[in-house]
Amino acid sequence: MTILDGKNLAAKIRGEVAVKTAAYAAEGKRQPCLAVILVGEDPASQIYVRNKHNDCVTTGIKSLMNTLSAETTEEELLSLIDRLNDDDSVDGILVQLPLPRHLNETKVTERIRADKDVDAFSAYNVGKITLGRDAFKPCTPYGVMRLLEEYNIDVKGKECVVVGRSNIVGKPMALLLLAAGGTVTVCHTKTADLSFHTRRADILIAAAGRADLITGDMVKEGAVIVDVGMNRKDGVLCGDVDYAACAEKASYITPVPGGVGPMTRAMLLENTITAYNNHLK
Ligand code: GUN
Repeated sequence: MTILDGKNLAAKIRGEVAVKTAAYAAEGKRQPCLAVILVGEDPASQIYVRNKHNDCVTTGIKSLMNTLSAETTEEELLSLIDRLNDDDSVDGILVQLPLPRHLNETKVTERIRADKDVDAFSAYNVGKITLGRDAFKPCTPYGVMRLLEEYNIDVKGKECVVVGRSNIVGKPMALLLLAAGGTVTVCHTKTADLSFHTRRADILIAAAGRADLITGDMVKEGAVIVDVGMNRKDGVLCGDVDYAACAEKASYITPVPGGVGPMTRAMLLENTITAYNNHLK
């Protein structure tokens, strides 16, 4: 069994991004720039946003942090997005989710200009991915694909089972696996016999958000297991997969933490660099 080390690969990718930004500076080009918007004081979101900011700073990407109060009106938030959309020195815009309840997430994320939508949450970018066209890829599924590639795990012709159908992970994950030639099944809370499907998986992606959902008896011998879950069990971070039991059967498996999470952050940097290069053209 081999551990899919997302922490190590993410560090390598950050190093590559830093080399690129140093080269841009040496060529006298402007700095790539990511604008992050956080509304309210959700503690988990505050940590995510701080990590994203630190990633930018350490890789030579300019980080424009916009921290707004929980009482911010939709009009105020949309007008900030408009300003950042119109600012030619800003390459990527990310609104941290979830938003406070009085703000419409769809309306807000759709307001970000498609060429700055580094989260790839907009209908336009998701539509392009669905059509198999070149577009920003959502950071978590993109990170999973990059991790599989790094370990030379070929998706073509494989039975891929995705557990979870969220807009951020499950659905785009299925689309990327499909584009890579996988035979894809998407399972979810209404799936009648989950283990029937998971046991067939050559590549199993657990993204349901439920601790210990995937037990050892639910996976095939030699399967590649990717755990996207981020759950708290007795205050400890854990994924959707019973790691100890599943690691015994897996050929490859991601740990939590240190698997998919760091890759998500690294892919945000990659998308920002892509946006920057598109803007310089
Ligand atoms: N909240 C949880 N995950 C994410 C993410 O990837 N992007 C944004 N913007 N918000 C999130």
